Amino acid sequence: MNTNQLPKEEFVFGVASAAFQIEGAAREDGKGESIWDVMTHEPGKTKRGNTGDITCDHYHRYREDVRLMAQLGVTGYRFSVSWSRVLPNGTGEVNRAGIDFYSNLIDELLQNGIQPYLTLYHWDLPQKLFEKGGWLNPDAPEWFYEYARLIGQRFGDRVRYFITLNEPNNVIEGMTQGGGNAPALAYTVKDRLTAIHNLLKAHGRAVQALRETVPGALIGMAPCSAVPCPIDTDLETVEQARKRYFATAPNDLLGSVTLYSDPIFLGDYPKEYYEYYRGLHPEITPEDRKLISTPVDFCYQNIYVGFPLDRDGKVPDIALPENMLSWPIWPEALYWGPKFLYERYQKPIIITENGLPNADNLCKDAKAHDPERIDFVRRYTQQLFLARAEGVDIRGYFYWSILDNLEWELGFGPRFGLIHVDFHTLKRTPKDSYYDYQKLIQEYRKP
Ligand code: NOJ
Repeated sequence: MNTNQLPKEEFVFGVASAAFQIEGAAREDGKGESIWDVMTHEPGKTKRGNTGDITCDHYHRYREDVRLMAQLGVTGYRFSVSWSRVLPNGTGEVNRAGIDFYSNLIDELLQNGIQPYLTLYHWDLPQKLFEKGGWLNPDAPEWFYEYARLIGQRFGDRVRYFITLNEPNNVIEGMTQGGGNAPALAYTVKDRLTAIHNLLKAHGRAVQALRETVPGALIGMAPCSAVPCPIDTDLETVEQARKRYFATAPNDLLGSVTLYSDPIFLGDYPKEYYEYYRGLHPEITPEDRKLISTPVDFCYQNIYVGFPLDRDGKVPDIALPENMLSWPIWPEALYWGPKFLYERYQKPIIITENGLPNADNLCKDAKAHDPERIDFVRRYTQQLFLARAEGVDIRGYFYWSILDNLEWELGFGPRFGLIHVDFHTLKRTPKDSYYDYQKLIQEYRKP
């Protein structure tokens, strides 16, 4: 459909990033270590031994990066604060230089007409807190409250949009046998359930801290989900997909939407949680439920993956198109995902991440040609706009990522950026997809 037909108010086109993946300056200006700083220096934990020591060097080059965002025409930039850059020990002493960095970044964004969307926790737990048990420590929600208050107090005069946790399910992945995320240690199911509960309580405490310090704050959490998409619009087929999307399967602590989002929006874990994990889950008090469901403003969601589902609830036996990480590419995910989420949780939706990894390189003409990414963004956003035109309250789309960056334990190989980064010279080169996204944004804005 033609994007010009869309209502114009309040839709944000943005780009996203995360501190550890782009900042570098890992041990500069008083920053404390995070679990990712430590783990990426352990032999064999990341592809080719890649670390976040320098990565895109955004810490020193943020002005250039914001200029590139401004030229792109985005009105939102989602970034995360490195907890241990502002609180080197996780609690207590504040690192002035860390505060100054984010303060300057925020000013730079606002001067360029770009709204900051600030993520508090994008996986880089301060190492000092990890040594105290990390998310298993019953004090973890209070640590997070202190951190969120600091952020609210220092930046709340200029930042309105906040994301508490990024993909809590992937925090748990790093506590699961075979998981690559830091700390990449295998915990028992019981411990993982405790960590989930503490993460959700931490989310609730952060919402409270931000409400106390930032009048008018707009807050949510950003989980990720893979979306089952009905292969036709028969009611039964649609129902199968909806059921699958909101299922809580036994022994699946990673892929469930409801496990992480029902407690926030509906006030409790799904009933299957209590059945499957009887005797294993932590005590869940009425106060906990109330805290976790402290009202939020948005249902943020990271969506990359979709897959087709038939009326028998089966994935048709066809070779699905895949990206270089073997994630199925299914643009309808941005139609059905927001639609299902909106029906269930009744909150405005913002897609806080969506993007395509590729092995992009600079060609003979010194440019980065990435037609697959152009096609990906066009087809996914088309589906999003379709859902929006049908009345789903969708307020924004953030492409992941503005820059090629460190894809965690997979290193620098998978490039998601609209801007190519040469990791030796740190030179930035906008890819073809950068110019096409610029065009898409302009098309949308045309009267
Ligand atoms: C999810 C994460 O939030 C982000 O850090 C990661 O790089 C992208 N998805 C791509 O895997």
